[in-house]
Amino acid sequence: MEQHLTVLLNEAVESLVTDTDGSYVDGTFGRGGHSRLVLSRLSSTGSLLGIDKDPQAIAEGEQLEIDDSRFRIARGSFAELSDLAEHVKFARPFTGVLLDLGVSSPQLDQAERGFSFMRDGDLDMRMDTDNGLSAAEWIATAEESEMVKVLRDYGEERFAKRIVRAIIAAREEAPITRTLQLAKIVSEANPAWEKHKHPATRSFQAIRIFINDELTDLERLLGNVVDQLAVGGRLVVISFHSLEDRMVKRFMRRQSEGDDVPAYIPVTESQRNRRLKIIGKAIKASEQEIEMNPRSRSAVMRVAEKLA
Ligand SMILES: C[S@@+](CC[C@H](N)C(=O)[O-])C[C@H]1O[C@@H](n2cnc3c(N)ncnc32)[C@H](O)[C@@H]1O
Repeated sequence: MEQHLTVLLNEAVESLVTDTDGSYVDGTFGRGGHSRLVLSRLSSTGSLLGIDKDPQAIAEGEQLEIDDSRFRIARGSFAELSDLAEHVKFARPFTGVLLDLGVSSPQLDQAERGFSFMRDGDLDMRMDTDNGLSAAEWIATAEESEMVKVLRDYGEERFAKRIVRAIIAAREEAPITRTLQLAKIVSEANPAWEKHKHPATRSFQAIRIFINDELTDLERLLGNVVDQLAVGGRLVVISFHSLEDRMVKRFMRRQSEGDDVPAYIPVTESQRNRRLKIIGKAIKASEQEIEMNPRSRSAVMRVAEKLA
């Protein structure tokens, strides 16, 4: 199986594991880079649940399950954390939950997965290849306004309208089914190529986020994860673009500030309902890591701990 270069490996596991006997969740198992290091830190009574949407990641997880009885793997979205844990009878509340968001290197590197604008493959882009619409299916039928919104909201693409018009004109000529075909249409329509950025980067990112419901899943996870954590348990999230990081940052800040009580109303500390404590500052990859793994350049890790 192809390798995934795990980002912020030591930093994430250091922050996550506070009790070697605890029960942990790796919500984005991938190829198990973080999971293996977590397991190496746990005692014989510690346990780890790995979750992923991707069947190839699950195959890797099933192997690890055979090799290490403290580990369980479950297929699904981390947004369904509670149901998935219930299903495999995994110990709760959790001592820590880790998310290393986005796509893995094997997903990007295998042309046939359709994530890359650099490699020619079927325009798929689904992490879960058994469910939902592929990017090609969506592009074949989506309304102009919907596509513009996706490119604007998820790709922060200034030229969304122009690009979508070009996509619509092209799909009237012939179906858009290949990654390089889409990359060419987008690049030609994009009037302002940014430095050091392929002109289709934003559009591909946007379509990928939409096809995989990435921000909705993150929002759902954030909406219930605190209830699933034990007191003192940690939430560790590694984001790869500003939309995700903004959501995580705001969420942690809100939960650490507690309820919004007007200044003139006297409240006790417990009435403030602070649920998380932010641990340290946002962490980025070192120069050394970035040199070895350019994908880590955009990574931002945030950590918070559940309060009593
Ligand atoms: C960046 S990779 C994680 C790599 C992993 N930390 C490692 O070291 O091998 C992200 C993984 O999370 C999965 N993923 C992304 N969003 C998900 C979600 N909402 N639910 C479940 N899995 C998800 C992807 O399929 C991918 O395998």
